[in-house]
Amino acid sequence: MLASTLETSDVLLQVNGLKKYYFIREGIFGGVTGSINAVDDISFTVKKGETFSIVGESGCGKSTTGKCLVRIEDPTSGSIVLNNKNITSSHGKELLDLRRNIQMIFQDPYSSLNPKHTIRESISEPLVNFRIAKGAELEKKLTNLMEIVGLSPKYLDRYPHEFSGGQRQRIGIARALAVNPELIICDEPVSALDVSIQSQILNLLKDLQQEFQLTYIFISHDLSVVHHISDRVAVMYLGRIVEMGSKTELFNNPKHPYTKALLSSIPIANPDIDNKQDRIILNGDVPSPRNPPNGCYFHTRCPYKKEQCENSYPDFTSISETHKTACFYVNEI
Ligand SMILES: Nc1ncnc2c1ncn2[C@@H]1O[C@H](COP(=O)(O)OP(=O)(O)OP(=O)(O)O)[C@@H](O)[C@H]1O
Ligand SMILES: [Mg+2]
Repeated sequence: MLASTLETSDVLLQVNGLKKYYFIREGIFGGVTGSINAVDDISFTVKKGETFSIVGESGCGKSTTGKCLVRIEDPTSGSIVLNNKNITSSHGKELLDLRRNIQMIFQDPYSSLNPKHTIRESISEPLVNFRIAKGAELEKKLTNLMEIVGLSPKYLDRYPHEFSGGQRQRIGIARALAVNPELIICDEPVSALDVSIQSQILNLLKDLQQEFQLTYIFISHDLSVVHHISDRVAVMYLGRIVEMGSKTELFNNPKHPYTKALLSSIPIANPDIDNKQDRIILNGDVPSPRNPPNGCYFHTRCPYKKEQCENSYPDFTSISETHKTACFYVNEI
């Protein structure tokens, strides 16, 4: 469904024209000499209960997008609307409520768990801070949280280093779930794990989504993982969304040369995916977001580029009601 055709009650999050520029100050007077355009005007809508994935190469702005949504970073411009409420510049109690309602899970839960704190202390912290539970109720909640993420409550008094990567990610998930969020931003949650453990964690996330009607924004550079978990997918390149569609549209009918290249480079062992495209090799690295190229940002690596691509940035073309891409030559390639 396109944002415009969604019932308002179905929409959890609307992001409009979001930009995050990091300004560079140099010289003895510290004047602004440039900017790193980490997120450069992106818009998307996330429906209640779905998994919306953001995929793209390192440095394309995935994590910065997530950080703006939970307001670890303040957006440079644009708007973020959650449950019909503009939260772009929330502060005080509103910001606290927002931080409870949108939780984030990271690639390395070890870095978000205090090594000197037991698991009990780590999971209790948000419950106590947000005054959700104390005493016997807190104890019951801790036991329950451990069980729902598949860990024995008898581990509560152990320390993070005593757990494997997969177990630590389960603890990170328990900590995020503790405050009953509506939206969880999962930033590369399985990238550091072995493939066999990856699917256990992905399946756990799927089960929890069903059980607690959670909405996920799933950030990953790994298309097989994205295929496993997503309902809809946005492909980012140098701070911008270049293609967005349902999982099936994106994987079976990629339209942007960048999406085609990403897909052609990975073997996805899934018979549902018609991935018989010609291999497209991308030469060179992603250009720096400090000096994005003129025209279409992808033209410096695009095997199909024409003169127009060097001069102007393409608007989105709709392929279907739910599928759109920003390429001038979408019908020719
Ligand atoms: N605090 C910061 N100050 C300056 N530049 C930053 C800051 N945080 C991120 N950037 C830059 O913004 C761009 C986007 O970074 P971001 O971390 O969002 O990318 P990413 O898509 O999450 O990459 P990865 O897959 O490696 O995690 C990068 O060029 C990065 O160097
Ligand atoms: Mg990142």
